[in-house]
Amino acid sequence: MRVLSGIQPTGRFHWGNYFGAIRQYIDLQHGNEAYYFIANLHALTTVRDPEILWRNTIEAAIDLLALGLDPDRATLFVQSDVPEVSELCWLLMTGTPLGLLERCHAYKEKKARGLTADAGLFTYPVLMAADILAYDADIVPVGMDQVQHIEVCRDLAGSFNHQFGEVFVLPNAKVLEDSAKVPGTDGEKMSKSYENTIDIFEDAKSMRKKIMRIVTDSRPMEDPKDPDTDPLYQLYCLFADPADREVMAAKYRAGGFGYGEVKKALAEVAEAFFAEFRERRSRLAADPEQVAQILADGSERARRKAQQVLQRAQQACGLKAAT
Ligand code: TYM
Repeated sequence: MRVLSGIQPTGRFHWGNYFGAIRQYIDLQHGNEAYYFIANLHALTTVRDPEILWRNTIEAAIDLLALGLDPDRATLFVQSDVPEVSELCWLLMTGTPLGLLERCHAYKEKKARGLTADAGLFTYPVLMAADILAYDADIVPVGMDQVQHIEVCRDLAGSFNHQFGEVFVLPNAKVLEDSAKVPGTDGEKMSKSYENTIDIFEDAKSMRKKIMRIVTDSRPMEDPKDPDTDPLYQLYCLFADPADREVMAAKYRAGGFGYGEVKKALAEVAEAFFAEFRERRSRLAADPEQVAQILADGSERARRKAQQVLQRAQQACGLKAAT
């Protein structure tokens, strides 16, 4: 199987990114042909400071490598280093109904929050479709919020194939049930734009502070509580092993404990969980040349694949002579 996914360098990666997506990247690099990229073209729709965008892009590469992405198994690259994707995006754009994009949650949400929408934001899902189709991806590991975009990708690929012949592979989203939508400190979906994130490489003190601020209900301590509806318990479960989860769930059901106790336990498991990655990260950060080389090798490999697919599409729709 061919696996592909992208992640935006809009800031430091958070728990939602890790448990919803990055963890899947690492697992799926075994036994598959895997492509993972840093979506700097998508980030350009929100990050308008060149130094920040560049720095975030490099930090993103270091983070992914530290978290276990293995450049000998998976191809890691920066989205804009494969210009074929932008060209493919235009080919798809010519067949994209406006209504399809108007229905996309990400666009609708941002507009509802009063952000002025430009053409980049509006056509964002088409570029994402090009990202996926350019590598003949079968599987796209993502969190729940990206599933609709992958449906759009399938629609666009399907109608292109219908018009011009079997050019594109139709991908499937792969979402992990237990972390499809990781909650943030306010109980809503964890997201940079909601300012409710806890970062993977956050320093221990600030992580603890954020954990202590996670919203909980204000029922008396003695009351039995349902763990399954509590975002704090959901976060604890991401880190704890099954036996510890059960112990904690039993405490909820019995009542007579405070949320502070759960928060303390969460801070401890989270810190221990990321400790090994943190160490690897500082080693990688000290060797920027190695990271640059990994990205250069990755983009070369990715381009080779994207060039083949682009040529196939160009020939199919009459932009190049068919062979
Ligand atoms: P981005 O950068 O917003 O998020 C990267 C990945 O993290 C997942 N994620 C979450 N999963 C569970 N719970 C959460 N709270 C949470 N927050 C984020 C996202 O679902 C995503 O998988 N458009 C994409 C980037 C992209 C892409 C692609 C992805 C560009 N081209 C092609 C797949 C294929 C995005 O903005 O992800």
